[in-house]
Amino acid sequence: EVTPEIVAACQELVLDNDKLQTYMTTFLDNIERGLKKETHDDAVVKCIPTYVQDLPNGTETGKFLALDLGGSNFRVLIITLDGKECDMQSKVYSISHEVMQGPGEELFDFIATCLAEYAVEQGVADATLPLGFTFSFPLIQKGLTVGVLERWTKGFSCEGVIGNDVVQMLKAAIDRRGDVKIDVCAVLNDTTGTLMSCAWKNNDTRIGLIVGTGTNGCYVEKQANVELFDEPDRGSGNVIVNLEWGAFGDDGGLDFCRVQYDRDVDARSINPGKQLHEKMISGMYMGEMVRLAAERFTKEGYMFGGKGSEQLFTPDAFETRFVSDIEADAPGTYNNVKQICNDLGLADATEQDYVNLRYLCACISRRAAHLVSAGLTVLIRKVGEKKVAVGIDGTVYKNHPNFHNLMMEKIKELIEPEYEFSLMLSEDGSGRGAALVAAVAARVAAQG
Ligand code: BG6
Ligand code: GLC
Repeated sequence: EVTPEIVAACQELVLDNDKLQTYMTTFLDNIERGLKKETHDDAVVKCIPTYVQDLPNGTETGKFLALDLGGSNFRVLIITLDGKECDMQSKVYSISHEVMQGPGEELFDFIATCLAEYAVEQGVADATLPLGFTFSFPLIQKGLTVGVLERWTKGFSCEGVIGNDVVQMLKAAIDRRGDVKIDVCAVLNDTTGTLMSCAWKNNDTRIGLIVGTGTNGCYVEKQANVELFDEPDRGSGNVIVNLEWGAFGDDGGLDFCRVQYDRDVDARSINPGKQLHEKMISGMYMGEMVRLAAERFTKEGYMFGGKGSEQLFTPDAFETRFVSDIEADAPGTYNNVKQICNDLGLADATEQDYVNLRYLCACISRRAAHLVSAGLTVLIRKVGEKKVAVGIDGTVYKNHPNFHNLMMEKIKELIEPEYEFSLMLSEDGSGRGAALVAAVAARVAAQG
């Protein structure tokens, strides 16, 4: 049994359906404000038109390069599409803390170096392949190949990029090297990549979702409703909207359900007051939230003999993957939680501590899953079709043992029974998605 005082104190982390209703009403209102010209400038949920008007139809072909920046890995990919076949080769490069927070030019030099190295290795350096650039930060798009960075999120803070077109910065870095020829055909968000990749397999797909380092969603909206969209309709009448829902709450809209841990995580982040919704949900913050709760209950004398350990009291020492691992222990078993406690210098932890720690993990991850579910419910209704598939990617969704089930259950509870929805894992979605955006653009252009 979980210690009763801990259960009582964790009640604040339970979002009942009344609270979720408040969330949904506020969120829908935020989307409407983001979409309308008159209210867009003050809106925190930016609802950015992506300039992707068409979904894949399965006839896309060609060989593409893709860059995928902004998740837990930076990757360079070569993708070959041929009807329903897709071959992907890729290489992961790790981005150091110095690069993430250093001068912008150095970030793009680093990206260009990885790209050139990989292109040479794969023998395509002179092929002038079309390239799709997945850049998973808030970009104000002015076209399929123009994306101006509005702000950094997720721990990046490179100087000299905000306000600039990241496609131009990439091209400039490639030109500085001069050893690889490419043709940048599209810049896109990871949510868009995920949606496209899923739509390629399932033509009911209308929503893309990421629950990873950060969190965000995108969906297919009618052009008529997207007042900022300024391109002629090429026939579909639709355009994908990148919500940037991580910023929901930045105007106080989520204060009704934020708690002290949320305020602490925010205060210590590099972007205080920003991405408040994201900070309640995503992998960059989830482990730290559990640690803060465990620290509190230890100091109050309810856990770890009131003593704890140095690591337990060290910011960010409790990684988000521990949450997934701890919750993956079968009921009544404590293998993972024991190992993690040992690694955190908590070798004296008792079975009671394990039970309590698992409970904290479950409270925090369940709250995240319920927030995401409420957001998705709003989007599924907004899409308005009877049958909707959602493409999802990100380490939290992929690795957490219950996240998918928690979402299925909660959305079913919140949504009207006439909606039929499915949640599909779209692994490595952004790479294939980037190729698909480039390919669809080429197909549509060829059709005149
Ligand atoms: C990856 C996508 O699979 O998932 C990335 O290719 C995306 O584009 C990422 O950003 C999100 O997950 P995480 O957990 O790596 O941030
Ligand atoms: C952050 C970014 C957003 C991205 C999301 C998931 O919220 O601002 O663009 O889609 O993380 O990676």
